[in-house]
Amino acid sequence: MPPTSDSKPKILVTRRLPERVEARLARDYDAILNPEDRTYSDDEVIALAKDAAAILPCPTEGFSAGQIARLPEGVRIVACYSVGVDHVDLEAAKTRGLIVTNTPGVLSDATAEIAILLMLGAARRASEGETLVRSGAWNAFAPTFMLGTQLNGKRLGIVGMGSIGRGVAARARGLGMEIHYHNRSRLDPALEAGAKYHARLEDLLGLSEVLSINCPATPETRHLLNARTIALLPDAAIVVNTARGSVIDDEALIAALGSGKLAAAGLDVYEGEPNIHPAYRDLKNTFLLPHMGSATLETREAMGFKACDNLNAYFAGAECPDRVV
Ligand code: DGY
Repeated sequence: MPPTSDSKPKILVTRRLPERVEARLARDYDAILNPEDRTYSDDEVIALAKDAAAILPCPTEGFSAGQIARLPEGVRIVACYSVGVDHVDLEAAKTRGLIVTNTPGVLSDATAEIAILLMLGAARRASEGETLVRSGAWNAFAPTFMLGTQLNGKRLGIVGMGSIGRGVAARARGLGMEIHYHNRSRLDPALEAGAKYHARLEDLLGLSEVLSINCPATPETRHLLNARTIALLPDAAIVVNTARGSVIDDEALIAALGSGKLAAAGLDVYEGEPNIHPAYRDLKNTFLLPHMGSATLETREAMGFKACDNLNAYFAGAECPDRVV
């Protein structure tokens, strides 16, 4: 239930959202929108949130302990427009009594599709091929030209078997891949759908000809893929990441791509994005996308409506369906 029209709470929406989502927010709230879609600084967020009861941010706005401490007193809920909440210091939010919600589930299919695109793009050298065609440098078909890695029959290791990981598994099965996974706990056999569980990350890495990162970014998963763990992968393995850049130690991945230890990487997310490590651009064996895992209109609308549902529940005095803290 949206709030009644005579008591519309003020909410700050930090980025432009799909039209139908903004229309719903403008109908139900005194919404401060961002039609120019500018990325706000921390100071701007604080200034714009004056008198607001809620903020609907994207992963582009960070809520560190310091930023949370500066939030105007009236801000009681941060309804994130993302499933990932690594941009929010959850401990600091809890201490302040700030509710934080996210958008789980609705972006799993779109993100799993992008993981498959990255896998194919990296394995089949899509970036190099496209560059050749666009530049006019391609001259003829040749039997030994642009040879890549076939995915059919390869072992796929999935780190993090939540709904996105399972979505990747379902699609990869269709490509003829053998599915293995590592997760904090083993899934029900029905959810595993034949995927083989490895309680130790190291055991998964040892057999992953293709590795897909699908775990959340937490202090525990920071640089989970590093020089030591990359060394455990089979030679000429392929790494794809649709989770968060912080899960990968860039220097280690770049060294392994440069030395030929890894055949290729497909990345949609980066530590410090959009300022990515410049070496990624120079490597031929990277297939790079700009954090667009959830970028379909259907998904971005569904994410927005989920954030609206969380806000509506909060302002109706009900439990938020996707409360994180
Ligand atoms: C998320 O939801 O965490 C994505 O990275 C942005 O869609």
